[in-house]
Amino acid sequence: MGHHHEKHIAVILAAGKGTRFRSKKPKVVHKILGKPMIHYVSLAVRWSNPDRMIYVVGHEKQQVIKAINCLNCVYVEQEEQLGTGHAVAVTKTYWENFDGIVLIVNGDLPLVEGETLKNAVKYMEALMKFEGAPAEGGQDFRNEDVAGVVITTKVPNPLGYGRVVKDKNHKIIKIVEEKDATYQEQQIDEINTGIYLFYAPYLNQVIDRLENNNAQKEYYLTDVIELLNQMGKDVYALMVPDYTQFIGVNDRWDLAKAENILRMKYLQFWSYAGATFHNPETVYIEFDVELSPDVEIFQGVSLKGKTSIGEDTIIEENCSVINSKIGKNVKILKGSIIEDSVIEDNSVIGPYARIRNNSVIKENAQIGNFVEVKNSVVGENTAAKHLAYLGDAQIGKNVNIGAGTITCNYDGFKKHKTVIKDKAFIGSDTMLVAPVTIGEEAITGSGSVITKDIPDKALGIERSQLRIIENYADKRRKNDD
Ligand code: UD1
Ligand code: CA
Repeated sequence: MGHHHEKHIAVILAAGKGTRFRSKKPKVVHKILGKPMIHYVSLAVRWSNPDRMIYVVGHEKQQVIKAINCLNCVYVEQEEQLGTGHAVAVTKTYWENFDGIVLIVNGDLPLVEGETLKNAVKYMEALMKFEGAPAEGGQDFRNEDVAGVVITTKVPNPLGYGRVVKDKNHKIIKIVEEKDATYQEQQIDEINTGIYLFYAPYLNQVIDRLENNNAQKEYYLTDVIELLNQMGKDVYALMVPDYTQFIGVNDRWDLAKAENILRMKYLQFWSYAGATFHNPETVYIEFDVELSPDVEIFQGVSLKGKTSIGEDTIIEENCSVINSKIGKNVKILKGSIIEDSVIEDNSVIGPYARIRNNSVIKENAQIGNFVEVKNSVVGENTAAKHLAYLGDAQIGKNVNIGAGTITCNYDGFKKHKTVIKDKAFIGSDTMLVAPVTIGEEAITGSGSVITKDIPDKALGIERSQLRIIENYADKRRKNDD
C-alpha cells in the first residue's frame, strides 16, 4: 500500500418505507430545519471524503433521489426491503473488487457529524495498517485480522436499538436486535449506531451468507459480524460518548427530537459567531439561514428558507422571515412577517407588518403596524406607518403614506399598478384606484378615491361638501316619540 490516504466507498441505506411515520412520503425525505433528513446524512458522509457515494433506494425511490439531489452519486435499487444486510448486498458490484474500506451508514441518522465519520475511517485505517511494528525497510504492515469497526454509543434508554456484545478487547462478538435479545442482553446499554466500516474483500466473503431466521424475518447486516468472527477476523467497537449524534429516526417523535437537537446546535454555532438569542428554546432557524455579527433575536422568531440577516439588525418577538434578505441595522418589530422580499439598511418594520411577494423596502423606510406590502417597491425614507395595503405599487423616496391608504390594485380580473413619485403626500384613507400615478410632491386629500393621475405638486381631493345640521340630536329624539 504505502498511500497516505486509503480509499473508502460509502454506502447509505435509504430504501426503507419508514412504516412508523404513517406517511405517504418515504421517511428520509421528511424535513428537519427545512431540509430532507437524508441531506444531513449526505453532508456528514461527504465530509469523510469517500471516493464514491452509493445510495440504496427502493420505496418511492424517485422522491428519495430528488431529495438527495446528487449528480455524481450512485443509486442502487433494492426492490424489496428484506433488511439492512440485503440492502448492502444489492450494492456488491460496486465494491466486490475494491481493496479498501466500505463505510455503511443508515439513512435515518441525521445528527451524525462528519468529523465522527472521518475519525472512524482514520481509526479503521490505523487498525488495518499499523497494529504491530512496521516491517523493516519502512513498508506498511497490514493487519489481516481486522475486518471492521462499528460505531457504538451508550444511551440512557437503549430500547429499540441493537445491543453490542463485546469481549474484553473491544472486539465485538455479535450485535443482537431488541426483538431477538435475551433478558440479559437487553441490559446492555452499549448500542449499535448503524454506522459500520468493513474491509471490502472480507465483507464480500460473508454478505451473501446472511440468513433471515430471526424475529423480524429480515437479513440483518449486523449478522456479518458473527460470520467474520467465524473466519477468524475481528470487528472492533469504536465507542463515541456523545450519543445525541446517533438518534435513529424511526417515527415522527424521533424526528421532532432530532430537529430540536440540531436546532440548538445551529443556534449555538450562530451564537459563537456573534448573534444574541433571547430564549433560544423558542427560536427556529432553518439550515439555509445566515446571520451576521451583532444580530439580536428575541423569542418566538422563525427564520426560514434562504434568508440572511445583516449586522446590528434586531428581530423582536414572534416574527417570521422567509426567503428574504434583511440589511444592516434593521428593526423588525413584534409580530411581523416578511416573505420573498428585501429589506434594506436602517429600515423599521412593524410591529405587525406583512411584507411579501418580491417587495423591496429601501433604506431608512418605515413600514408600521398593520401595513401589508405586496409586490411593491417602497423608496428611501418613505413612511407608511399605520394600517395600509400597498400592492403592485412603485413608491418613490420621502413619500408619506397616511393611515388607511389602500391601493385598489384588483378590478376583479387583473392586477394594476400604482405609481407614487418622490415626496408625494398621501392623505389618510386615500383609495388609489389603479392603474394610477401620483406625481412628485403631489398631495391627496384624506378620504379621497383617486381614479385619475395627479400631476406633480397638485392636490387631488375627492370629497362631498360637509353638511352641519344644528341640534340634530334633539330632532332625532322627537321623531322617536
Ligand atoms: C438498525 C440496526 C440496529 C441499530 C439501529 C440504529 C439492523 C438489523 N439493525 O435497526 O442494530 O441499533 O439501526 O439506528 O441493521 N433499510 C434499507 N433496506 C432495508 C431495510 C432498511 O434500505 O431492507 C434502511 C432504512 O431505510 C434505514 C436503515 O436502513 O434508513 C435502517 O433500517 P431500520 O429498519 O430503521 O433499522 P433499525 O430497526 O432502526
Ligand atoms: Ca432506524
